[in-house]
Amino acid sequence: MRVLIFGATGMLGKALMREWTADEVVGLGSADADIRIPEQVQRVVERERPDWIVLSAAYTDVDGCELNPQLASSVNTRGAVNVANAAARANAKLLFVSTDYVFDGTGTTPYETNHPRNPINSYGRSKAEAEENILKILPQACIVRTSWLFGAGGKCFPDTILKLATTRPQIDVVNDQRGCPTFTDDLASAIIQLCRAGAHGIVHGTNSGECTWYEFATEIIRQNGLTTRVLPTTSEKFVRPAARPKYSVLSPASLTAHGIVMRPWQETLPVYLAQ
Ligand SMILES: NC(=O)c1ccc[n+]([C@@H]2O[C@H](COP(=O)([O-])OP(=O)(O)OC[C@H]3O[C@@H](n4cnc5c(N)ncnc54)[C@H](OP(=O)(O)O)[C@@H]3O)[C@@H](O)[C@H]2O)c1
Repeated sequence: MRVLIFGATGMLGKALMREWTADEVVGLGSADADIRIPEQVQRVVERERPDWIVLSAAYTDVDGCELNPQLASSVNTRGAVNVANAAARANAKLLFVSTDYVFDGTGTTPYETNHPRNPINSYGRSKAEAEENILKILPQACIVRTSWLFGAGGKCFPDTILKLATTRPQIDVVNDQRGCPTFTDDLASAIIQLCRAGAHGIVHGTNSGECTWYEFATEIIRQNGLTTRVLPTTSEKFVRPAARPKYSVLSPASLTAHGIVMRPWQETLPVYLAQ
């Protein structure tokens, strides 16, 4: 199987490149092909003739997207459309990596894949519109929604908490946003399995379990044997440009339907920390 990954230089992309050893994989960063430019996308797809394209590339700075919605839209929506069009022309299958932020966060039970999209920030809107457009171009595409990614080779929450813990006696962390932390290596392995199985449709791919950012930080500190105090705070006290969904836990039902079970997020932290 020939695989082409857009976003191979990102946090998830690096995990995909590490984990995907059994197939012929080519990984691209933005310097190799800017997904905003259809000709560049078309050229690399024609050159590589992939069976599968994995689109992990995105403008992922949630607050940056809020401040610059045009950039969010051009990379995350139009870029995705360019990749989907190139995939359709080349008869390649497409797996698009999407986000829990397509939901508004007013739910109280895990979101199923058919729950209506209703994003509350610019990043979420750009990804939700990408999903809708991709499914029009390629109804058989696979869309994997994930959340709260952390892993080696990227800026991520555990890293930030550990850096803060070395300089501060206590850290305030929001306790009113609930989601599923997801280790990039585990998600990469799930994505590989989905492609190899020829999956299509929307799949929710996160590690199992859920928590608030405060609970996540507390566990990071505990597993590191640090004494830094973690104090719960609220989103109101920690104002940022983009609103975040209060509750974005994704149901694992669509993933288990493919025979894939991702372990509890707490079990992945020692692996991440060892890296
Ligand atoms: N991070 C999270 O918590 C999270 C949560 C839910 C869903 N997701 C989704 O998961 C995917 C991977 O996220 P990540 O955190 O691994 O991303 P990341 O570390 O921010 O990496 C972004 C990737 O996109 C590429 N890229 C950005 N603009 C591009 C452009 N115009 N043309 C081509 N490539 C471009 C970057 O390439 P260069 O580095 O070479 O510029 C990089 O490889 C994204 O689709 C994101 O929406 C992430």
